Amino acid sequence: MSLDDTLKKLKERTRLLNKTHGHGKAPCDDAVKENCFDKDTRKISGKNEACNHTVPPTLFTGDVRSIVSRVTAEINAKCGIDTSETINKKLTRLFESKKQNGEDLEKYVARLERSEASSPDWQIVMNAIVVHESYFYRDKAQMDNILREALLPFINEMKDKPYPTLRIWTAACSSGEETYTMAMMTLKALLDANQAVENEPGNVRLTPGWTIEILGTDISGNVIARAGKGRYGTYGLSSFRDMPKEFKRFFKDCNEESETGGDYLEVNECVRKMTRFETHNILSGAYPGEGGYDIVFCRNVMIYFDEQAKLKAQSMLADALKPGGYLALGPSDTLMIPERFEFKRRKDTVFYKKL
Ligand SMILES: C[S@@+](CC[C@H](N)C(=O)[O-])C[C@H]1O[C@@H](n2cnc3c(N)ncnc32)[C@H](O)[C@@H]1O
Repeated sequence: MSLDDTLKKLKERTRLLNKTHGHGKAPCDDAVKENCFDKDTRKISGKNEACNHTVPPTLFTGDVRSIVSRVTAEINAKCGIDTSETINKKLTRLFESKKQNGEDLEKYVARLERSEASSPDWQIVMNAIVVHESYFYRDKAQMDNILREALLPFINEMKDKPYPTLRIWTAACSSGEETYTMAMMTLKALLDANQAVENEPGNVRLTPGWTIEILGTDISGNVIARAGKGRYGTYGLSSFRDMPKEFKRFFKDCNEESETGGDYLEVNECVRKMTRFETHNILSGAYPGEGGYDIVFCRNVMIYFDEQAKLKAQSMLADALKPGGYLALGPSDTLMIPERFEFKRRKDTVFYKKL
């Protein structure tokens, strides 16, 4: 074989190796029409020869590629999410499957560009790229320190005031485990400070006059709807994996089997009464409600954000807090506005007190 022929053959092989398909895991019909490279057998089938192999979903086929880049620009502008290669892959998979289902991608993206980040179309995109995992009492070291250094002192300081009030916001709370954890911790602190009585296990009545508001927000309406239900499956690596046993009394059995096996447990009325859930985008520029929160949580979400978005989100969280209020971020988050906070470094954790 001449050098020219070898080069030609190599070129053709490279072209076939780079050839992309848009048919996911279906048998490769394209191979009937033209040559096709089978990644499993490493063979190239001839023209009109059915290779009948399966090919993995492809990345970046024509219009999907441009759709993905338009959507990533929108995601960054609306949600601050830094578009990594992993997110590009997740989006490509989403839009490839929409294309295969006959959806008009141009129209879909035009709708995304026009709508709010909390709209149903955006929910589908966010669900494809963001992890919603959460569980009760996540990051025990941080929770224990917040209980000891923030919740208990606040309650003791406020209990003699005419209208004692405590306001907590868990931003990006996903399905509500963090919000209910704060509610259960507050009940525990109120009981310890003799500001509540427990008539029977898990049924707590506050001393009249107290107002406790614990708000949970997330950009995703789906997870907020789940949070509002307050029902959690007990099977496997469940929401209960790190919850202290003493909090079990704040749940009742639903006498119903969960989809994954195991039971559903539902938070008791006295816990639920202290909580409220809303959709909210932390990059919308405004905080929910009136502000003046005593404690704000915003954990395990800024890992998705670029530097500018982190700064914007943290400035808004700081504005939402009262002076002397506490901020808890995720374990891998860096505080971008140290001049506004006093650092509380403790064993295995850190949190911040607003100056
Ligand atoms: C991994 S969960 C964290 C849940 C909880 N904070 C925890 O630490 O267990 C991340 C959540 O952030 C939410 N999220 C992502 N971007 C957001 C944004 N711009 N505004 C509000 N929530 C956002 C996602 O919908 C998701 O539910």
